[in-house]
Amino acid sequence: MAKPRIFVTRRIPEDGLARLQEICQVDLWDSELPPGSAKLLEHVVEKEAILSLLTDTIDGQAMDAAGPGLKVISNCAVGVDNIDLDEATRRGIPVGHTPGVLTDTTADFAFALLLAAGRRIVEAERFTRAGQWKTWGLTQLLGQDLSGATLGILGFGRIGRGVARRAQGFEMRVLFYDPSAEEDEFARQVNAQQVDLDTLLGEADFISIHTPLNEITYHLIDRQAFAKMKPTAVLVNTARGPVVDSAALYEALKSGAIRFAALDVTEPEPIPQDDPLLELDNLIITPHIASASVETRGKMVRMAVENLLAGLQGKRLPHCVNPDVY
Ligand code: DGY
Repeated sequence: MAKPRIFVTRRIPEDGLARLQEICQVDLWDSELPPGSAKLLEHVVEKEAILSLLTDTIDGQAMDAAGPGLKVISNCAVGVDNIDLDEATRRGIPVGHTPGVLTDTTADFAFALLLAAGRRIVEAERFTRAGQWKTWGLTQLLGQDLSGATLGILGFGRIGRGVARRAQGFEMRVLFYDPSAEEDEFARQVNAQQVDLDTLLGEADFISIHTPLNEITYHLIDRQAFAKMKPTAVLVNTARGPVVDSAALYEALKSGAIRFAALDVTEPEPIPQDDPLLELDNLIITPHIASASVETRGKMVRMAVENLLAGLQGKRLPHCVNPDVY
């Protein structure tokens, strides 16, 4: 029997690829860079499965191009805002993702950015290399303590909770805003208090974003939101770039409406080299690497492969985002 034809939109680790090749005829986009929409539309034709990354847009057009034989879309990410889920569900196509395995790695990285932003670590490193370290200065490079400060967590899902757990070690006061979460046993254990958005924006010294991107969270942090923050506030985003309105962020950082921001995600990605945000010193930007540890990326790929193979065999995906298809 002919092996099922699948499209893998990026170079993936050898063991994941070998596992797919045992069972499938793999059309591999053998590059670190995404195929882009035109090439993606060409390569998905008559495929039974697509293994995609968060930088690939899998919309109705891509599903049409694949044709009626498309049985599964497996996204190698926990976020699925690159996939038109309604369209996939309407067509009965299960969509897989990789929850859980990147929670701690991402929460660690959010904490690294909170510390780096609060304690001006990137700026201090540049200062040292530039030969500006002349003496131990009493007022040199003063930052903001995390210990004892108020942390506002936007989005209290797996990763937001991971950040709350870490905040306990720093004796932070933790507030969270998430209309779909409750002040449950876990929240009580980590002393996290559920508040409305305005309270969080007004009281937090540090704000860390952990919401998915959807119609409700798009530009949730806009000009009005910045106006409610403390002038000393630090904003960290490791979720999705468009949750923050970047023009409003630029104004807020430039005018001193907030003190500092650290972004692992931007709108768009990658951030264009002429983006005005890159002119600012009170901003750290990293290239969407919050889940980038050797172990975690390996686990994500294994999970994405298992989702894809289950879908091809007509089995329920171990991690399905649109279970309504069943
Ligand atoms: C995801 O999986 O959605 C993350 O953004 C990857 O770091």
